[in-house]
Amino acid sequence: MTSWRHDVSLYISTVSRLTLYSPLYSEKTLQSPTMTRTILNEWFPNTTYPFISNAPMQGTATSKLGSAVSKAGRSGFIGGAYNFLPESPEIPAFDAELTAVRNLLQLREDDVLPLGVGFLTLHPSVSGFLDVVGPVVKRQKPAAVWLFAPDGPLAHERIIPGLKELGSAWKLRVFVQVGNVAAAREAASQGADAIVAQGADAGGHAWAHGAGIVTLVPEIRQMVQTEFSDREIAVVAAGGIVDGRGIAAALALGADGVTMGTRFIVADEAMTPDDMKDTVIKTKDGASSTIKHTIHDDIQGTGFWPKAYDGRAIMGKAYEEYVAGTPLDELKARHQTLLSAKDNSRRIVWAGSAVGLVNSRKPAGEIIVSAGNEARQIIEGLSKGLKL
Ligand SMILES: Cc1cc2nc3c(=O)[nH]c(=O)nc-3n(C[C@H](O)[C@H](O)[C@H](O)COP(=O)(O)O)c2cc1C
Repeated sequence: MTSWRHDVSLYISTVSRLTLYSPLYSEKTLQSPTMTRTILNEWFPNTTYPFISNAPMQGTATSKLGSAVSKAGRSGFIGGAYNFLPESPEIPAFDAELTAVRNLLQLREDDVLPLGVGFLTLHPSVSGFLDVVGPVVKRQKPAAVWLFAPDGPLAHERIIPGLKELGSAWKLRVFVQVGNVAAAREAASQGADAIVAQGADAGGHAWAHGAGIVTLVPEIRQMVQTEFSDREIAVVAAGGIVDGRGIAAALALGADGVTMGTRFIVADEAMTPDDMKDTVIKTKDGASSTIKHTIHDDIQGTGFWPKAYDGRAIMGKAYEEYVAGTPLDELKARHQTLLSAKDNSRRIVWAGSAVGLVNSRKPAGEIIVSAGNEARQIIEGLSKGLKL
């Protein structure tokens, strides 16, 4: 009988569509027959295996973080916009951020940007998405666009084919983040290239009814393989992954790559206020110190999220007061007053349940290189029956 460890290594080397691994960056890498390149590495030739991206965290993942991640041989993402009205200030802002990426990476005006841009698609103005976002995407040529949080099944129906058409010259890839198999099926049938399977451990907003990546990733992988066997659709795991252990596990579950949000909140290049980084680093035991709820949105005045979503944040003073029975209006008033008085103790800190494993601030490149190397070491070790 073969051991499960043997099965894992067989699975990894079979499921990943392999070509020989060739490191594109000067980082010290491990060489072994299990070094692979997945479909994501083929689509994004600047990336090395394992494929890691930072989440396009609005306000946190700007040009500095996104370009640092891409520079380190992974796939950077920046937050784009969520208001698509023609006069929305977010549109020129993300355009300027993409220009900043171009400058940081010293690319020419007509080069494809080796990075993606994420959009939240819950706002009613999403009907104007292609009109306002389309021209910027066409001019800036990001390698990928990431969509998340549609208010209903039809929101992406025109957007995905529209994006793919306008980006056909450089093979723009569309990522859609989902929290269940039905939404993954919907995204795939609308033409998504990559399904980001977001598990319930994720920081920030997510499907209110969710499951962990241990079940979500294999079920989505299976659905894609059986129902869309004529297409190459990548599966990316998100939620609770902060290091090589999580990456190796996600690959074993059938993911082609991973996305990390919480780990990058404390990256040097993230636009996270210092006190928030400190809170993330000192918070331990994410199972009991974070909560998935709608109350934090209600308190901070972002309660416009559709019912299908809630958000995971660190439980702080405001949450304690909510549990103790303080009325919402009072909580909102305290939030406003103390924020304007610059009292950070009431800050709402969105973070995932893996926050307890985030122990240090580092440059994004270091986070990525050490997580990638650790994942490869684990995969090799498992195939030899070694203990973690
Ligand atoms: C602070 C924070 C902000 C986020 N903002 C966004 C966002 O603007 N758009 C988006 O699609 N996802 C956002 N997410 C969710 C991520 O896309 C991703 O699912 C999540 O970070 C993965 O889980 P992890 O935090 O455990 O790594 C955010 C996550 C965090 C922690």
